[in-house]
Amino acid sequence: MTAMSVQVHVVEHPLIAAALTRIRDESTPNTIFRQELERIGTLLLAEATQSLATTEVSVKTPIQMTSGRALTSEPVIVPILRAGLGFLQSAQTLMPGADIGFVGISRDEATFQPKPYVNKLPESLVGRTCFVLDPMLATGGSLALACRLLIERGANTPIIVVCALAAPEGIAAIEHEGLDAKIFTASIDECLNENAYIVPGLGDAGDRQFGAA
Ligand code: PRP
Ligand code: URA
Repeated sequence: MTAMSVQVHVVEHPLIAAALTRIRDESTPNTIFRQELERIGTLLLAEATQSLATTEVSVKTPIQMTSGRALTSEPVIVPILRAGLGFLQSAQTLMPGADIGFVGISRDEATFQPKPYVNKLPESLVGRTCFVLDPMLATGGSLALACRLLIERGANTPIIVVCALAAPEGIAAIEHEGLDAKIFTASIDECLNENAYIVPGLGDAGDRQFGAA
């Protein structure tokens, strides 16, 4: 039996730190917010993809045959709608051959429970490495639900998670659920407030990219 575990990697990088400050700033307009979030996504994903397996291949240069490496298999990228879309371009640029699965989850504003509204995942995820994209890990309800949907379809574990901010409560919830996940984040913030928003956080990541909904 494989041991379940949650590993959290806080990726420290000066460009991430600078971009994070800009997205925290309430005066940053949506267009700049999206650009900075994408930059954070690229840098987090560079770290999160380090463990992808590669296989030796032959390649013919204009001069001669040589050897190189290729990804052993193509991963699956799963943005959680809406806010996860902010990392999708970064993920597709880095992994152009990946399949994309979509999970739509919105948080009930009164109970903070996740409400799924889209599930467009490949029928089988057996043997596939999955990258879940969501800038915000708050109570952990949305991420836990997304991970369960992937594991139900046979995804490899650990599920790799990329988020800009994580709350300690959210990380604890993923651990409590017994999920096997590796979380790459730019920051573990202080706590959640009474509305289950991350403190100090950056507000509503969906609204700040796409406008209030
Ligand atoms: C936000 C965010 C996460 C979720 C995190 O989505 O993008 O998916 O909240 O909260 P949790 O950890 O407490 O579940 P939201 O429900 O606001 O939807 P949106 O992305 O469409 O704005
Ligand atoms: N979802 C967000 O977009 N922001 C938070 O702080 C918490 C949940």
